[in-house]
Amino acid sequence: MKKNNIFLDLGLQPLANNYLKKKDLEKKEKKYRLKVGMDANTNLVSINKPLSSKAMFNNTYPYRSSMSKTMINSFKNLSKLISNKFKPKKILEIGSNDGSFIKNFSKQKVIGVEPCSNIEKITKKLGYKTYANYWNKKTAWKILRNHNKIDLIYSANTISHIENLDEVFESINIVLEDKGTLIIEDPSLLECLKKNTYDQFYNEHIYVFSLIGLESILKKHNFEVYHVQKLDIHGGSNRYFIKKKDYKKKIDTSVKIFRQKEISFGLNKLSTYKSFSKRVLKSKKQLKKIFNKIILKKKKIIGYGVTAKSTTILNYCKIGKDMISYFVDTTKDKQNKFTPGTKIPIYKYRGFIENDIRYIFLGAWNFKDEIFKKEKKFIKEGGKFIIHTPYPKII
Ligand code: TYD
Repeated sequence: MKKNNIFLDLGLQPLANNYLKKKDLEKKEKKYRLKVGMDANTNLVSINKPLSSKAMFNNTYPYRSSMSKTMINSFKNLSKLISNKFKPKKILEIGSNDGSFIKNFSKQKVIGVEPCSNIEKITKKLGYKTYANYWNKKTAWKILRNHNKIDLIYSANTISHIENLDEVFESINIVLEDKGTLIIEDPSLLECLKKNTYDQFYNEHIYVFSLIGLESILKKHNFEVYHVQKLDIHGGSNRYFIKKKDYKKKIDTSVKIFRQKEISFGLNKLSTYKSFSKRVLKSKKQLKKIFNKIILKKKKIIGYGVTAKSTTILNYCKIGKDMISYFVDTTKDKQNKFTPGTKIPIYKYRGFIENDIRYIFLGAWNFKDEIFKKEKKFIKEGGKFIIHTPYPKII
């Protein structure tokens, strides 16, 4: 990436999803320096030294999209829209994870691509045609040979995880029909800057996309966005509806509106990112202050929902096991392990919060509404959550 202007330094970080087993605790963890920069030519914002896909997405990958009702419902609603509006003959999902999206369609209609074989196995076992491959030209040619052209391609929270965007779109070009639709969904850079959610940056989130950044790479590959939707998912995401440039189709006004919003916020200017960086530093100090105050009162704090995002927060703010006694989480592959870098134990969520807990750090802040609904009793009895967005506070 040329002209990459670094604006944020999030310090030494472990691999965000590398939950540690007890036997690994004494071993030296792989760490990297997490910096974020903006390419002044393309407006793309990315981390500076991405790790290889193989190091991050392999047969021990813990993330499961089915762990949240919010995600399941979002996929269900989109599936309905796809069936009603696009009526596709064949659908391909890039990054199909444990099948939360593809399960909404018949087995003849969908194909999944998921490189983490431990997760790909789940959908394969159910009888879905899934490929345990990275998304690249080789995979695209294989799909073309086996299935012919595809008229609808969907990818949520995946494209931003792939360093080589040129290859991503060249590969999509290979399989997408000329009049086909590409739907991409990823966290929104505008929302990230507005809400100070600097934890959207970690080794797997190589990019956090803006419309203007994405458009610069799409243009290069003869694609264009014809509709954009704002979603509440993952702290604020955008869903982009994309077509091949030669396919004449009306461009919805949303595209112009989103573009203007981003430009008036200054997403095309380095100074905007430098101000963000100052807010991040302030956020770190405020969060530490909150933790210190509670710890001084000799109160216990636990974590709720351990996320790749919280790895960035905890390691950047140096919040460790002296401050958070343990995390609870519903994901089996995270349970009885320890948080990357900070080595805080993670336990199974047992359906309720222990009586002696009054403070909870919300690692899965992106599922705040869902979690608050679930923890009505804890809140009613005076329990408090600590959250870092849009600024650190106790609620
Ligand atoms: P998520 O934000 O999806 O992951 P990441 O930042 O790694 O992309 O992770 C949410 C985590 O929170 C996941 O491990 C499941 C957990 N969780 C709970 O424990 N309880 C809940 O009610 C919800 C919604 C999530």
